[in-house]
Amino acid sequence: MNFTNLRGILTYVPEFRDKIFVIAVDGAVVAHDNFGNLALDLAVLRSLNVRLIVVHGIGRQMRELAVERSIPLSSSDGTGPTDPATLKVSLAASSQVAQQILAAFGAADLRAAVPNAIVVHPFGIVGGINHQSTGRIERVDTAFLHDLLDRGIVPILGPIGSDREGNLFRVNSDAVAAAIAEAVRAVKLIYLSSEIDYAKENDLARQLSVSEAESFVHHHANTTSPLLLSKLSHSITACRSGIPRIHLLDICVDEALLSELFSQVGVGTMVYAEGYESIRKAQKKDVRSILQLISQSVDAAEILPRTRQSILARLNDYYVLEIDRGLVGCVALHRFLDSSQAEVACLSVARVYENQGLGRKLVHFAESVARQEGIRQLFALSARTYNFFTQKVGFREGTPDDLPAARRFLYDQGGRHSKVLLKQLHAP
Ligand SMILES: CC(C)(COP(=O)(O)OP(=O)(O)OC[C@H]1O[C@@H](n2cnc3c(N)ncnc32)[C@H](O)[C@@H]1OP(=O)(O)O)[C@@H](O)C(=O)NCCC(=O)NCCS
Repeated sequence: MNFTNLRGILTYVPEFRDKIFVIAVDGAVVAHDNFGNLALDLAVLRSLNVRLIVVHGIGRQMRELAVERSIPLSSSDGTGPTDPATLKVSLAASSQVAQQILAAFGAADLRAAVPNAIVVHPFGIVGGINHQSTGRIERVDTAFLHDLLDRGIVPILGPIGSDREGNLFRVNSDAVAAAIAEAVRAVKLIYLSSEIDYAKENDLARQLSVSEAESFVHHHANTTSPLLLSKLSHSITACRSGIPRIHLLDICVDEALLSELFSQVGVGTMVYAEGYESIRKAQKKDVRSILQLISQSVDAAEILPRTRQSILARLNDYYVLEIDRGLVGCVALHRFLDSSQAEVACLSVARVYENQGLGRKLVHFAESVARQEGIRQLFALSARTYNFFTQKVGFREGTPDDLPAARRFLYDQGGRHSKVLLKQLHAP
């Protein structure tokens, strides 16, 4: 990973602290050469006080054991019927994978345990087919999982569960991961696999809102690999039940997990929940949230420092973007007396909401307000984010001479040597 933006990375640290991430690994991931490195990456997350729950699959190991023992499998992914011989193979595969994970975690200094934290029901007879020992999750013992997490222990759950009579069932591991994530209210669910060729998957976007993911599944059900389809379908369920972000990653990509979590661009595919989103004028009650929102960018010298008083003095200039009534972005449009120019300033989007188009929306909103007021030219001053303005929202580089006199004076006094960025709104 390129750690050039260490400050950027560190801003994620407080956001992740004490949050629960559910990490779902296919059986093939545990068998992969990179699994030891993944364990080390998980240890990094634990050291940042991220609470981890690991859910593993067993498909690869089941298929290998079935060949070794010459047993035809009735289903290897826990979605079809599980006959007695297949159940036996899945139990052997599950304990093998769990032991491998415990060993790799031990080597990475991670404390882990395999709890009996899911209660399963028979899947039953569906479409006239008796699914025998295939199960579906009935309940998750969240108190047990939280107990382990409180003690710094990583719970490891496999795709096997039992009912209240002690009968064993095979469950699909993607479904287990989604159910656990929902039950413990995880902030992230991360599916790691090694057998999906993302490059070949119908131009799957890097980021999909949950409805875009639904539309992808709907339109490409016949041409998408079943593995990816399963992950997308469970991502959609998880997203609809309140997990804000689900990441799909390829373990073959070096340091995929940390790169996805700590870089703004990410290396995998993300499915995210769309919240109710609106931009409105800032009110007095928003000032504290604005200050909080911009504090990281102020520390990173991306935004000029502001005080409560300075915001209150020009409160009319500020607009805030809310998602589900939480303030996640802001922008200011400063007008100048006797000038047809206005400044777009204080543009900020909360780190966890970056790269979803909100920055662009805020600039376009400021632009439309300016247009309505007959402003002819917008300008922005930026020392670190000028590329965003030129590459994403149509500004071009100007010079300090392009600034209105009052702003030029402050610019010269400030000594930041920010770039001057301009956007023409009306023909001059
Ligand atoms: C700059 C900022 C507002 C962008 O918000 P955002 O919601 O992530 O923006 P969008 O989702 O609309 O756009 C993201 C795109 O801009 C790109 N981008 C983000 N910051 C960039 C930068 N500094 N230079 C070039 N491109 C940048 C992203 O890579 C992404 O590109 P893509 O769409 O091709 O993948 C946000 O990163 C932020 O708050 N930064 C810190 C504060 C800051 O610098 N403010 C500007 C002060 S003048």
